[in-house]
Amino acid sequence: MPGRRVIYRIISLILALLSFALAATPALAQSVRAAADSRATDSADNAMPVEVLTRRRAALLARLEPGIALLRSADHRSLHEHPQDSDFRQDNNFYYLTGLETPGSWLVMFKPERGPGKLLLYLPERDPAKEVWMGPQLGPGSEVTELTGIEAVHPASEFEAEIVRRLAQPEAFREYPQLYLPLGEGAESTREIVELAVQARRSISDLGTPLAELRLVKDSVELARLRRAIAITVEAHRQAMKAVRPGMYEYELEAVVEYVFRSHGAERVGFPSIVGSGPNSVILHYDRSRRRMEESDLVVIDIGAEYGYYTADLTRTLPVSGKYSPRQRAIYELVLATQAVVIDSVRPGTTFWELERIARGHMRVHSKGLCGGGGCDRYFLHGLGHWLGMDVHDVGSYATPFVPGMVVTIEPGIYLADESLGVRIEDDLLVTEEGHEVLSADLPRSVAEIEALMGQAAEPVGRR
Ligand code: GLY
Repeated sequence: MPGRRVIYRIISLILALLSFALAATPALAQSVRAAADSRATDSADNAMPVEVLTRRRAALLARLEPGIALLRSADHRSLHEHPQDSDFRQDNNFYYLTGLETPGSWLVMFKPERGPGKLLLYLPERDPAKEVWMGPQLGPGSEVTELTGIEAVHPASEFEAEIVRRLAQPEAFREYPQLYLPLGEGAESTREIVELAVQARRSISDLGTPLAELRLVKDSVELARLRRAIAITVEAHRQAMKAVRPGMYEYELEAVVEYVFRSHGAERVGFPSIVGSGPNSVILHYDRSRRRMEESDLVVIDIGAEYGYYTADLTRTLPVSGKYSPRQRAIYELVLATQAVVIDSVRPGTTFWELERIARGHMRVHSKGLCGGGGCDRYFLHGLGHWLGMDVHDVGSYATPFVPGMVVTIEPGIYLADESLGVRIEDDLLVTEEGHEVLSADLPRSVAEIEALMGQAAEPVGRR
């Protein structure tokens, strides 16, 4: 019935135009702006403070040679005949520098030889027809300046003529010789500009590298969000410990975890939840969650809530029966002791490579024949840990020595495929002046703590 659909669309458009016209009255304009603000900033708590955004942009510009830097926001996923994209997630670097969740936008940063940098934002203009479906959106205007601290905000339709075409002209932007674009994460979004710049023989530098260096050391807003993401994930683990029982499907346990995430304000999972029991416990990134768990299984639960664009990453390995068998316990305690030795060594100046050496050495020396003739470190099949932040494996070079403000995960494991026995224990740590703080210290880790919590009755999902 194409006719009915067309009429429906026309009515939607008329209503949209009417509401747009009404929004011109001050009271309505204010409510549109308030709604747009809440969408534009972040669904978790509140807006990213402008002074924090300003500080981040100044720190980035200080790392750049004179030049022009371009950063593209994420785009809406295109769903057939559906203007809504519930999966939209802003590009990390764009969010880090602007706090905006607006798709289809550009941030342009000019770094002069001397003096302060110049910043421009290009945002798609508001679209009344779309707003009928999706509510008020941010467009070019003073509210964007209020949210970001960036004065110059233009329609995205002008970006092509004002920036892109001029990049190919040798005389344009003469005082800004270097062109910075993200060449790793986010590179796809600027591929056409890279091609244009190559043709114009402009030299290109990676914008991702200085951004990664900045993102490695968390500011107070980032730490607050990480702490919240970790607290939510700790709670999800605790509920999972109480809920797990023989006969339950992995997806039921995953549902408990992700229910806790959403009901505590997490926007999404930071990565696909890993709930792997028995033979799946040795598959490092198992994310199908389909198996029915048996009494003799271990189940690896590796999960992370994302809150305000920052994700946790915590793993525990539980006995489905509620009690570790002597064999499971022996392997578990070797992984636990390895993790404890590494955690003790986390302090400024160390590196992941040094910690990895300590972990493998400890595991090898203390294997006591648990893994056959050689040491159990042969069955430690992945890296010891990683940076944590906006991405679960956050950006930054793994050769970088630790400094206060970095956040890392420490996650040794042993995976014995012949026995369907995998154990991984993972915690999140903040590097401090004195050494470290275990941000996930509230989550039971020892055999006794875990068995005690597993003995408690599960809380009915849906009640808090
Ligand atoms: N915990 C998931 C990962 O590190 O990839």
